[in-house]
Parts: sequence; structure tokens; C-alpha cells
Amino acid sequence: MTTSLRATISAVHGYVPPDLLTNAELARLVDTSDAWITERTGIKERHILKGEGLGTSHMGAEAVRGLLQKTGTRPDEIDLLICATTTPDLQFPSTANLICDMVGVRNIGSFDVQAACSGFLYSLSIASQFIAAGTVRKVIVVGADKMSSIIDYTDRATCVLFGDGAGAVLVEAQQNGYGIMDSLIRSDGSGMIHLHQKAGGSRLPATPDTVAKRLHYVHQEGAAVYKFAIAKMAEVAAEIMARNNLRGDMIDWLVPHQANKRIIESTAERMGLPMERVMVTINKYGNTTNATIPLCLWDYEAKLKAGQRLVLAAFGGGFTWAGVYVTWGYDGAKAARPDGVSL
Ligand code: ACO
Repeated sequence: MTTSLRATISAVHGYVPPDLLTNAELARLVDTSDAWITERTGIKERHILKGEGLGTSHMGAEAVRGLLQKTGTRPDEIDLLICATTTPDLQFPSTANLICDMVGVRNIGSFDVQAACSGFLYSLSIASQFIAAGTVRKVIVVGADKMSSIIDYTDRATCVLFGDGAGAVLVEAQQNGYGIMDSLIRSDGSGMIHLHQKAGGSRLPATPDTVAKRLHYVHQEGAAVYKFAIAKMAEVAAEIMARNNLRGDMIDWLVPHQANKRIIESTAERMGLPMERVMVTINKYGNTTNATIPLCLWDYEAKLKAGQRLVLAAFGGGFTWAGVYVTWGYDGAKAARPDGVSL
């Protein structure tokens, strides 16, 4: 008996830029301390993309190049490329279009998905529907953000939280029984007031006045967002577990969006998972928005085994939230990056 075609994650790769921004350096820029940042968020350092003219596509392309190389995939084998980003290089064309050009992928569909920190899971969900429909076989899903381009480094409430990075997964139609088993995506636009960028879009295009008023940066009411994030991350995880008859002891890994260590711990507790089965990279990357989940998968790749059950959960601006249930497609130890991972 043959198993039906399923969208399976068959490889992952990541990229973080070499420049580090530590808590100690931030404490020289604003009124904060390593102790406050560590205790309230779990972050110790984050990577920042420097270099004139380098945008999100630069990091996305690095991740995709690595993905193609490690899997021996030719650019002409890719059928679709989706880029989840909140910091596109340009208003248009899409960052996905730019990444395709940079890595030599031509003549395929490519587009961006904007769902703030939930964008990578939205994109995985879209990729799996394309594969289930039978219209494509190999999809690259990128999550990439240059958050430093929209962060006000005079605002201590936000500048300590974010970093830059990119991750990419290859999603393939496979028949080994593993893959993306279920996904759910949700939103509530009334949450916009608590987390948004005020200017630079069609509602309030850039002018000297908007720049002078610092309206092109992330505006976040941290406590209000925290309350929603705690509730929705747990809710989405519980719903995806219930839909798939999963108990906490059946889940090998929780792969949560990395916005705050306390939100991650609370989600794990509500799911009945010990922290040994939770992927955590926030200490070294901060919140890289769409890159957090693929960077987790990349960092923990060596520990992943074929058939393991993963629940991926995210919450972000919008508000948006999403959950994806995956059975892992391969033994990661054989494919993990050779430089060794810090788990
Ligand atoms: N250093 C020192 N003190 C600070 C800092 C800082 N970096 N930032 C804020 N404070 C102060 C505040 O001014 C406040 O002082 P006050 O009591 O004198 O007014 C105090 O610390 C407490 O502020 P809160 O905002 O209530 O702090 P909280 O414990 O909530 O932590 C944080 C703030 C880390 C931002 C938390 O609210 C959080 O993680 N929120 C959710 C973030 C999130 O999930 N975002 C969604 C994804 S991001 C995206 O979609 C783009």
C-alpha cells in the first residue's frame, strides 16, 4: 500500500550575520542592563547585519544558497519560493523575487508573506497546500528579517529585543509518511494598535516630518502584547494538539517563536513539556521575527530524528498566530552543519 503525497521538510539551513550586539553594548546606548534584559527576556546577544546596501534578501539568499548546496539541489529544480518577512528590501518587488535572482532560480512563482512573527508558519502552511494540490514538488520557504532596520536604538523597550537573521527549509512532496500533518493560521487585526510601524506605508508615506518624529520604527506596547502572546501561543498549541490527538508526552519538540523566554516557558508548561524538549535560541539570536523558527530547526538539526513529532507555534504583530504539527522527515545528524551546533 502506498502512502499519499505529503509536504515534508527535507532540509534546513540558516544564516546570521557576523556582527554581534551584546547586552553590555546596549547598556551603553540606552538606560538598561544585562541583568534586566536577561531576566525579563532571556536574551544575551543578537546578530546585526551591517554593510551598505545589504537588506533582508542578502541573508535570505545566504540561507538558500546553503540549503541548495547541502542538499545538492540545482536552482532549476525549485518550483516555488516563499519569503516570510516584515522587513522587505523594498516596497516592491518582493524579497522572494530578489532572493530568486540572487541564487539563480528563474521562471518560478515567488512571493512574500507578511504576517509579522507568524509569517514563517503561514508560509509553511501555504507551501503544504501547494504540494497537497499537486501543482509543485519542491518549495523553498524562507523566514528572514533585518529587524535592525526598523528598530529605534534610543528606545530601550524595543531595541533590546530584536536581531537579524534568516532561515530556509526545503519542503518536498514525499511519500515516506512524514511531513506537515496539520496547520492552523489565525489573526485579529484589532491588535494593530499594540504593535505596528506607524509610517512608511500607504497610509502615512515617508516625509521629513515622519522621519523627524521617529515613526518608521517598531512601536510596541510590550505588556499588552505579552498578555496576548502568552494566551495565544498556548491556545494555538492546545488546538493543534487536540486536533491531532496529541498529549504532551507524545511530542518530541516544541519549536516556539522566540520573542521572550518567559512566553516560551509558559507555552511549554501549558503543553506539559519539560524544557529539555523545547528549542531555545533567543539567548544568542534575540527575536529575529520570521527567522526564529527556521533558525531553531537549523541549530537543533543534529538532534532531530526521522518520525519525531514537532509542534511549531508562533505569535506576532497583527495580531497573528499560527501552529504547525510536523513529523520530522530525516535524521538530522547526517545533515547537520559541520561546524558543530551550540545546543
Ligand atoms: N531596560 C530596563 N528597563 C526597561 C527596559 C529595558 N530594556 N524596557 C522596559 N523597561 C522598564 C519599563 O520602562 C517599565 O518601567 P516602569 O515600571 O518604571 O514604567 C518596566 O521596565 C516594566 O516594563 P514592561 O513593559 O511592563 O516590562 P515587561 O516585563 O512586560 O517586559 C517585554 C517587556 C520584554 C517587551 C515584554 O513585555 C514582552 O516580551 N512582550 C511581548 C513581546 C512579543 O511577544 N512580541 C510579539 C512578537 S514581535 C513581532 O511580531 C514583530
